[in-house]
Amino acid sequence: MKDFVLKGNICFSAKDGTIECHPNSYVVCEDGLCAGVFERLPEQYANLPLTDCGDQLLIPGLSDLHIHAPQFSFRGLGMDMELLDWLNTYTFPEESKYADLGYADRAYGQFASQLKSSLTTRAVIFGTIHAPATTLLMEKLEDSGIVSYVGKVNMDRNSPDYLREADAKASLDATEQWICDTCSRFANTHPILTPRFVPSCTDELLAGLGRLSEQYKIPVQSHLSENYGEIQWVKELLPDAKFYGDAYDRFGLFGGAQPCIMAHCVHSGEEELALMKERGVFIAHSPLSNSNLASGVAPVSQYMEQGLRVALASDVAGGDTLNMFAVMAGAIRASKLRWRLLDQEVKPLSVDQAFYIATRGGGEFFGKVGAFEPGYEFDCVVLDDSTIVHPQELSLRARLDRCFYLSDDRHIAAKYVRGNKIL
Ligand code: GUN
Ligand code: FE
Repeated sequence: MKDFVLKGNICFSAKDGTIECHPNSYVVCEDGLCAGVFERLPEQYANLPLTDCGDQLLIPGLSDLHIHAPQFSFRGLGMDMELLDWLNTYTFPEESKYADLGYADRAYGQFASQLKSSLTTRAVIFGTIHAPATTLLMEKLEDSGIVSYVGKVNMDRNSPDYLREADAKASLDATEQWICDTCSRFANTHPILTPRFVPSCTDELLAGLGRLSEQYKIPVQSHLSENYGEIQWVKELLPDAKFYGDAYDRFGLFGGAQPCIMAHCVHSGEEELALMKERGVFIAHSPLSNSNLASGVAPVSQYMEQGLRVALASDVAGGDTLNMFAVMAGAIRASKLRWRLLDQEVKPLSVDQAFYIATRGGGEFFGKVGAFEPGYEFDCVVLDDSTIVHPQELSLRARLDRCFYLSDDRHIAAKYVRGNKIL
């Protein structure tokens, strides 16, 4: 049933970045698309089935543009190191376990079920180098009703023997086969090319992935300018690259023809940012991960002002939670510390900006997603904040702001993706 009306307290980000609140209003879904928000229900929709959500809040679903599904199993653990040691000590050993489909079945079952019960309606996800486990992950995500892009990771150098593909050709052959197996198999789950990051991919592998992206029209995701040690390593590996992002761009893996997401961009320089803007690269801002791994704080409000495409991401398990409200609050807090301690030129992120990047910013990767505007795909989370007690009447806006800091899965009363009720 994709034609219906929901009544309740409706909030979403307008195009200009401010949050609009419509108390006691109607939002109409027609064939999976939003037809608009109305104070009084127009006559033409009077016959559609109506669900009265009472005093609950209705918001667009949130988009998480960068998560590592195999790392969900160790979320909240191993936060005592910086990126490169953290990868070698915790991440690579855990990811190697996904060679075993029995383990992948258990772990990915837990991941997909938690993501389904979260605020997230759209996600872009890393798997591991193992194609069978990645396909299994895609099957589970398809069953969840969430819309996602999922990547089989590519790694053919500078990685331990137990988590490295034999060579570029073996990696590319496995990737092409996996694309053919999955690209038209699912309604809501799609493949995305996923070179882990420059240090773990040879030029030959990156070049081949660029060709696959062009041939099969597949988007790309990777990591960029996250950590000082990583950036220095990339400089040593590719001394002739103009900047880190250039190492992707020279192989057609940096936006333009196909959409591209780069996670982090904490320490991107002017040239890198200019090229990202030109190519429409999405920045997956991952503030909890950047705090946990002591990577730094990206100047997000500046990126937004510069007209870059900014989205928000949990980056589990650098990040410790899938709760995108916690990621929003983490982004705001980190930006305030950056402003106080480092640079008063870059304003702290506002609540309106954080909500914008969590909904419209990331939603844009999926098309018209992330707002209750006519023609947008109907993704909606219904929040019941009645258990978050308060001693006085609060405005709708104040209730929404509180949810960002105080609520999680337990306050979700219902969840719709593309007009389908999945919770
Ligand atoms: N860079 C390369 N791999 C990873 C990863 O798994 N997590 C994060 N945060 N950064 C990376
Ligand atoms: Fe990551």
